[in-house]
Amino acid sequence: MYSQAKVIAGGLAHIPVVIAVFYFILTTFNKRALKFVEEAKTKKPEAKAVETKKVAVSKTEAPKTEAPKIVKKKHADVPVNIYRPKTPYEGTVIENYSLLKEGAIGRVNHITFDLKDSDPFLNYVEGQSIGIMPAGEDANGKPHKLRLYSIASTRHGDDFKGNTVSLCVRQLQYEKDGETINGVCSTYLCDIKPGDKVKITGPVGKEMLLPEEEDSNIVMLATGTGIAPMRAYLRRMFEPTEKEKNKWNFKGKAWLFMGAPKSANLLYEEDLQRYLVDNPDNFKYTKAISREQQNTKGGRMYIQDRVLESANELFNMIEDEKTHIYLCGLKGMEPGIDEAMTKAAEEKGLNWSELRPQLKKAGRWHVETY
Ligand code: FAD
Ligand code: A2P
Repeated sequence: MYSQAKVIAGGLAHIPVVIAVFYFILTTFNKRALKFVEEAKTKKPEAKAVETKKVAVSKTEAPKTEAPKIVKKKHADVPVNIYRPKTPYEGTVIENYSLLKEGAIGRVNHITFDLKDSDPFLNYVEGQSIGIMPAGEDANGKPHKLRLYSIASTRHGDDFKGNTVSLCVRQLQYEKDGETINGVCSTYLCDIKPGDKVKITGPVGKEMLLPEEEDSNIVMLATGTGIAPMRAYLRRMFEPTEKEKNKWNFKGKAWLFMGAPKSANLLYEEDLQRYLVDNPDNFKYTKAISREQQNTKGGRMYIQDRVLESANELFNMIEDEKTHIYLCGLKGMEPGIDEAMTKAAEEKGLNWSELRPQLKKAGRWHVETY
């Protein structure tokens, strides 16, 4: 006999069985779903690896079993060409003063521009350049072309507020047919006044960037305004307020070889002397004052003569893979530097013509001459 109570009890007795079947279906489904997701995750990079492997094979004929290389574009995050000649940024001159002492030769100025109203913001990093478009027209009635100038400030600017850029500009002057010719842009820049508006392009350049490693060694070879990027590097390394801002705790050795015609032409000298006092173990400063000092042959003292004097110590540094060398200033110094490096290398039993391309390839030899 079936009673109502028996039917209900029988029904209740099936509930655990039904729950167990549901639980089994659910966990099986979940496991499969998880497996699918995991497979999908691992498949993504595989697709990329195939792509990069294809490039590697076509370029270097690498064996198929070689591990895939993820190629990160070098300095991809460094800003370039935020402003171009067709749409330059009009920056306001904040200050423009002479860097020279009484009795110096020529005219060299430190000039700072306000960037705060730039939109998009004209940001830059140490070692880059900006373009300046001088006002007026050339002999053909066309607007003057831009000239490049190395940035002499850090990204935080001279006032550490992060919205200015500074340059170090020598006025170009030469004699032609008994007449003094003034360079167009350098004269324009040396003459501008605070409040004036100047057309700025850029930033440009990735050749003179500093390495990121705090324990790298930085050898700097500069003539005249070639000090501009080096001033930015040295501020980044040794200027106390700048250091607070940049959090870059430089622990390596910085060695500046500086060429100037007279002592009165030495640029940023007070700052450099202060860095020497504050950082005796990390900063070395060697001057070649061409018209006041003589080299061993009785000629003008150039930085390449100083390089030769310090050949052993310098090449001990260069042999360390943490050392980078930066060359900036007169194009004319390049053959002299090359010759000196060749002799200095020989003294250490090294071959400079082999070593230089290796340093270049390793991103440790940086040249910007003009
Ligand atoms: P221009 O009016 O353009 O005259 C230059 C022209 O004059 C030359 O092309 C040549 O034809 C002629 N000339 C020059 N000298 C003589 C001579 N002795 N005899 C006969 N003819 C001659 N400059 C700085 O001051 N500071 C910097 O930090 C700086 N950084 C630079 C960074 C880079 C990457 C480059 C490429 C250049 C840099 N320069 C720098 C140089 C700058 O760009 C200009 O070339 C320089 O200021 C001269 O420009 P100008 O308009 O005054 O001269
Ligand atoms: P000099 O002009 O006495 O021959 P500035 O730009 O202030 O004139 O400084 C450039 C420095 O570089 C000067 O001391 C200049 O010397 C020097 N110089 C000129 N030609 C060379 C060269 N070929 N190699 C190295 N230094 C040079």
